[in-house]
Amino acid sequence: MADAQTPAAAPTPAPAPEPKPKVPFSPILLKHINEPDSHTLAHYAARGGYETAKAHIGITVPGDLIKLVDDSGLRGRGGAGFPTGKKWSFLAKGTGKPIYLAVNGDESEPGTFKDRYILERDPHQLVEGVILTCYAIGSKHAFIYLRGEFILGYQRLEAAVQEAKAKGYVGKKIFGKDADLTITVVRGAGAYICGEETGMLSSIEGGRGYPKIKPPFPAVSGLFGCPTIVNNVETISAVVHIVKNGPAWHKQWGTEKSPGFKIFCLSGAVKKPGIYEVPLGITMREMIEVHGGGLKDGRKLKAVIPGGLSAPVLTAEMVDKCTLDYESLASLGSMLGSGGITVLDEEVDMISAIYNTMRFYHHESCGQCTPCREGTGWLEKVAHRFHHNDGHQGDVELLGDIAKNMRGRTICVLADAAAMPMQSYLQHFKKDFEAKVKETAFVEKQRTYRDEITPTAKSITATGAGPSALDVGSNQGSR
Ligand SMILES: Cc1cc2nc3c(=O)[nH]c(=O)nc-3n(C[C@H](O)[C@H](O)[C@H](O)COP(=O)(O)O)c2cc1C
Ligand code: SF4
Repeated sequence: MADAQTPAAAPTPAPAPEPKPKVPFSPILLKHINEPDSHTLAHYAARGGYETAKAHIGITVPGDLIKLVDDSGLRGRGGAGFPTGKKWSFLAKGTGKPIYLAVNGDESEPGTFKDRYILERDPHQLVEGVILTCYAIGSKHAFIYLRGEFILGYQRLEAAVQEAKAKGYVGKKIFGKDADLTITVVRGAGAYICGEETGMLSSIEGGRGYPKIKPPFPAVSGLFGCPTIVNNVETISAVVHIVKNGPAWHKQWGTEKSPGFKIFCLSGAVKKPGIYEVPLGITMREMIEVHGGGLKDGRKLKAVIPGGLSAPVLTAEMVDKCTLDYESLASLGSMLGSGGITVLDEEVDMISAIYNTMRFYHHESCGQCTPCREGTGWLEKVAHRFHHNDGHQGDVELLGDIAKNMRGRTICVLADAAAMPMQSYLQHFKKDFEAKVKETAFVEKQRTYRDEITPTAKSITATGAGPSALDVGSNQGSR
């Protein structure tokens, strides 16, 4: 540090980080999903399935597995991107209570459809991930929660658990070692809020899917009041490969803070919608142009919802600056979320899109918190006015006010998930809203004109022409 006598030297700019050499990548989690019978134990075993679990259960010190996952930099793939190893290390210790693992397979975020492919086409990969995770965190009982609509996923996962049980990989003394594991598959009834971790735990407990205030976080007091780790299906499936190949292997892809690979769900106005597993950090343009084959019918890009419906929308200009990692999306005021990318082309009516979005959140609010229950309702109601060319003067400001007052004031972040898209549409597509107010001004003029002619209509009636449809005054009075 410079002292008082010495003029401070101009700060030398930090050297730009060396760009990481591009490492070739081919799908890992999705590698086998298109092969016949990929969901069976025979198929999984033939490609080395359960060998990783066999090599570690009862052999490796559980804490070493937590450290290994922490060192890999794996971040949760369910939406928040929280470091997985860190979460595991937060587990309350020495409580004397059982520890639970709750795997989140609710996959309720609109635009997201990756976990169902793992459940339907490679469920043993998830079961092996559950075995390794439970061993690492000291859990003897895992719950896998699936959204009720996933019928095939449920059947195949349940069959996989039974196959693993028959082989001694699940049950008492798994792999012949002093370790027990029960896996219970639970089906939800199709509510978005049951994807929120504490809502999911309430649902597993047999109650309504009501979220609970945090803290305490589930790692301290979760399922049945016991320490619980909640992780997404993709996160737990990735654990198998990370434990098998090591942290350095995982970190060869991605960026410094977003290492590894991720499954993205591409939908909307692209030629080839689908699921694509890629290294984190590739450009959004590469995802749209190369993987998605570009936009349909030669149309122009208007906007992208980058991480599931609750992620703030990006304009086409922002898309050019966007890479698919947690930091890039955050710097653009949005989020990577669950990896559900929806592409909107120039033909999309943004007002219609946001109205539809608000309908969803209003419908899915569990109703416990006033700002969410009432706020989502008002956002829908006012958006409905714009959608029907009936926006009132001041409605743009009203939407902004409602959204602002919903954020950070509720039990869970569903309220924020509704408010954030609205705020981003107001920020980037304000003109689209204003255009609807202008149209309304025209409608208002028509109404005024109609009211002006009313006296004439009345005078016609008064002159003995009899009751008339033109007698607007009396009609209005009866309303
Ligand atoms: C309204 C709402 C819905 C959510 N839906 C899901 C979901 O369907 N699947 C999921 O894994 N996480 C979902 N999450 C995130 C979970 O609360 C939790 O962060 C995640 O399951 C943790 O797993 P991870 O650390 O492996 O990402 C949702 C969160 C909110 C607020
Ligand atoms: S924020 Fe909304 S969904 Fe979450 S607990 Fe409150 S009312 Fe329910």
